Amino acid sequence: MDINTIKIEIDSISKNIIVEITGINSTQSLEELQLKYLGRKGKIAQLTGAIPTLPLPERGALGCQINALKNKVASLIEKKQKSITTKPPETAKFIYDIGLPAIVQELGQLHPITKIIDEICAIFNQMGFSVIEGPEIETEHNNFTGLNIPLEHPSREAFDTFYLKLASEPVNQLANEQANRQTGKLLLRSHTSPVQIRVMKSQEPPLAVIVPGRVYRPDAVDASHSFMFHQIEGFIVDENIRFSDLKGILEAFAKAIFGKDIKMRFRPHFFPFTEPSVEVDISCIICEPVSRLASEPVKGCKPANCPVCHGKRWLEILGSGMIHPNVFKNVGYDFKKYTGFAFGMGVERIAMLKYGINDIRLFFENDLRFLKQF
Ligand code: DAH
Repeated sequence: MDINTIKIEIDSISKNIIVEITGINSTQSLEELQLKYLGRKGKIAQLTGAIPTLPLPERGALGCQINALKNKVASLIEKKQKSITTKPPETAKFIYDIGLPAIVQELGQLHPITKIIDEICAIFNQMGFSVIEGPEIETEHNNFTGLNIPLEHPSREAFDTFYLKLASEPVNQLANEQANRQTGKLLLRSHTSPVQIRVMKSQEPPLAVIVPGRVYRPDAVDASHSFMFHQIEGFIVDENIRFSDLKGILEAFAKAIFGKDIKMRFRPHFFPFTEPSVEVDISCIICEPVSRLASEPVKGCKPANCPVCHGKRWLEILGSGMIHPNVFKNVGYDFKKYTGFAFGMGVERIAMLKYGINDIRLFFENDLRFLKQF
């Protein structure tokens, strides 16, 4: 190698090393680069080896340049080495441990009241009933008058019903209620029975309808009362519908929801919209050894101290009866041709009995520890 070649080589190594080292990002390729320039047979060693062949006066200066180049290459390699080893390996981000527990995605679930409504509707659906809903804001006529609840009936009193005050009405509450009663204004329905009137006014028999929904009553909230709760109304209208049909349908329902061994009894009662009327009881699911939930009497639960039936052995679950001819008259049905039965039940009550819940407020407090149990 002559002087010029050496100078050109020094120059080109000095430039190339910077470009080459920038493109390197693994220890292995850095080692290869180190071997290429600083190795025993590397480029710089070749330059050093050529020095003794040069004329004496040139040797010193070129030797210095080659040494400087060697130091520069060595320090660049050392820096790169540090940056490679302190950088986390590219693959670290993607390492995963298949043994780690998965992140659990919590799923929501249906509210127990929704579940029981679905269950009850499905039972009646199978028996041929269709599900129809009505509005929560009702006319006074559908909620009362159409259902043969006379003006003087106690359930019409303001303490039993939330009447709606229209913006233009007087603020005086009593005057307001009286005005509502006379003019047939709006209210929050106090039961699901008004849907009977709506359906019968718009459809001809035969009818088999089930009506789930919210109802409102101005009751003080306690373990067994709430100002809002749910009811399910049911009714059938056709020619030749008899009380025995009512008994058969309700018994099939009670067995489907509480277990096939459940017993039922019908007690005479009064409802303005049915005649005759009955209240329907089931045998106590806690102290009578008959239910799906308690196949044996609960230990230590003698009927006398049963927390659910309080020794009565029977639990009331619904009101029912044969639809009053006046109701048929009010909707324009021929009451000599058609007969029918109706029934209404409180959903919270059914759920409380079925699941052994002793406080209605639990349904409305939205405590997940309660809701998740269903
Ligand atoms: N509407 C009644 C109530 O809220 C329940 C009821 C009783 C509905 C007898 C009926 C029935 O259809 O026949 O207390």
